[in-house]
Amino acid sequence: MRGFNTRAIHAGEEKKINDAVSTPIFQTSNFLADDVKYMDESSEVLYTRVGNPSIGVVERKLSDLFGGTGGVFFSSGMGAITTVFLSILKSGMNLVISRNIYGGTQSLISDLPGMGVEIRRFDQSRIDELETLIDDKTGIVYVESMSNPDLILSDIEGIARITREKEAVLVVDNTFLSPYNFRPLEYGADVDIQSLSKYVNGHSDVIAGFAAFKDSGLEKRVRKVMIKLGTNGVPFDAFLVGRGAKTLGPRMELHNRNAREVAEFLSKNPKVLRVSYPSLKASVPACFSECRGFGGVVYLELESLSAAKSFIRRSELFLEATSLAGVESLATIPVLTSHASLSAEQLRDAGLLEGGVRLSVGIEDLEDLLSDLDFAMKGI
Ligand SMILES: Cc1ncc(COP(=O)(O)O)c(C=O)c1O
Repeated sequence: MRGFNTRAIHAGEEKKINDAVSTPIFQTSNFLADDVKYMDESSEVLYTRVGNPSIGVVERKLSDLFGGTGGVFFSSGMGAITTVFLSILKSGMNLVISRNIYGGTQSLISDLPGMGVEIRRFDQSRIDELETLIDDKTGIVYVESMSNPDLILSDIEGIARITREKEAVLVVDNTFLSPYNFRPLEYGADVDIQSLSKYVNGHSDVIAGFAAFKDSGLEKRVRKVMIKLGTNGVPFDAFLVGRGAKTLGPRMELHNRNAREVAEFLSKNPKVLRVSYPSLKASVPACFSECRGFGGVVYLELESLSAAKSFIRRSELFLEATSLAGVESLATIPVLTSHASLSAEQLRDAGLLEGGVRLSVGIEDLEDLLSDLDFAMKGI
């Protein structure tokens, strides 16, 4: 198989449309119809909620990069998660889900008990907890490969083994690592979900999501539900994501290196109570031994909310903004943004403090980032 960067550039685009080197944007809602197209449930040339050539190219490219048998492009990461949940979970089932996940996903699952789905939460670093919760009624086991915001790694191989024994579906949100660093499908996950709004697009100018599948039967089921719900992505966003994906590898190399150095630098500062970044740990689960790096997010704790605010606001290069994983460095306070919808109890469960700061380290020059952080720390 060819290397990741070669595939990032060429996969899905082997067949050139009208000899165009770059795949054009098919900005059209519908296409001329005929009897053959009417029979095709996922035609790329019938109606854009069902499919579109700009979207098809990106689905094939990403599916290749994620190591899937296929994949579906969505309007957002949340669109992908919702659609996968609604495709699998039925009344009477339970969802066994990590406590250490993105606030938007936490907020989504709070609606599921009303639909007859029981929620069972576990610490994703504790496989023994999963073993006590999973049973024959479990529809999905859901974890983030590396959690938002405090970067707890999950043992995907161990979790996959237990999930398979109960014939449940293992869904892994791999947004924080990206397929360049780590591919959960290679370690037994059934579905790899990503918010493409983050590293894969990488330029903070698109909201989109993707789900890659190990099994084409499940992909077909999810695609049908996507068409019914209208959680499809759109051609212009697909074009931007396809363009961003071509440089994912070189960007991730810089994110990985810069964040590792930033984490090391901050861990030596006495004003910082705790820094979370996997390279600072003595060991990581075996499935991460070949991981190319741990991405650009670094989580740190300062003594209070006001210290966190002054740190972020004194920095000139880390822009205060809620998202992450763009080429520019960003900083946010999770209790005010990504996890604002959580109750005090849920925040405690997730181990989040008011003085917690999530840095998204960009690809600027490392020396400039370190001297900016040094300057910001001196102000608190
Ligand atoms: C880990 C993770 N998963 C999913 C999402 C949701 O993605 P989107 O904002 O594209 O809907 C986010 C958003 O921040 C996230 O951080």
